[in-house]
Amino acid sequence: LRLAVFVSGSGSNLQALIDATEAGQLPGIEIALVICNRPGAQGLQRALNHKLPAIYLPWKNREEAERRATALIDLFHIDLIVLAGWMRIFNPDFTAQYPQRMINLHPALLPDNAEETYTTSDGSVIPALRGLHVVQRAIDAGLKITGSTVHYVIPEVDAGPVLLRSEVAIEPDDDEERLQTRIKEHEHLLVVEAVRKYQYQLDTKKK
Ligand code: GRF
Repeated sequence: LRLAVFVSGSGSNLQALIDATEAGQLPGIEIALVICNRPGAQGLQRALNHKLPAIYLPWKNREEAERRATALIDLFHIDLIVLAGWMRIFNPDFTAQYPQRMINLHPALLPDNAEETYTTSDGSVIPALRGLHVVQRAIDAGLKITGSTVHYVIPEVDAGPVLLRSEVAIEPDDDEERLQTRIKEHEHLLVVEAVRKYQYQLDTKKK
C-alpha cells in the first residue's frame, strides 16, 4: 500500500507514520510521497530527514496545484492519500477522483454521517465540531470529552464515513495548547491504526 501524506505544518502525525513504518509496525505499507503546501514547514523537513520523496507544492492557484497533485499521485502510484494536518480545502472535482482513497485526521469527534451531534462512550451528546479551531471550541462548549477522528474525505468539509476515532478527556484546567498536545498524542497512535485498518479492510475485500 503506497501512501501519499499531505501536510501543512509540524507534521508530527507524519512522523508517527514514519516511525511506525521504520519500526516494521506497518508491513506492506510505504510512505511513497509527501506533499506540503508550506515551504518552511517542519513536516517537509521531517520527510527529507528520512529521505522520503517530498515535494513543496505551492497552493496559490488551487486549480493549478490540484492538477499537479493529481499528476504526482499518478506518477508515484499512490493507493491512499492521508491528510495529516493539511490546511487546504480541495475542489470537489479533486476529491471525487479518490473515492475511498483519501482519509483525513480531524482533532474532534465526528459522527458517522452529516448529523450535528455525536454520542460519546459515556452517553453524552456533544456537538459535531467541524472546521477550524475545534480544540478551543470544545473547551468553550464546556465539553468533558473530545477526541480525534479519521474519516474518508468527501466534498463536504470534515464529513464522510468514519474509519476510526479516539476519545480524549478534557481536564478542568486545560487550555488549547495542553489539550491539543494530548489530542496529538492520541492521534499519533490513531493515524497508524487507521492506516493498518484500511489495509486490512482492503485485504479482506480482495479475498
Ligand atoms: C492534528 O491535530 C490534526 O488532527 C489536524 O492538524 C493537526 C496536525 O498536526 N488536522 P501535525 O502537523 O501532524 O503535528
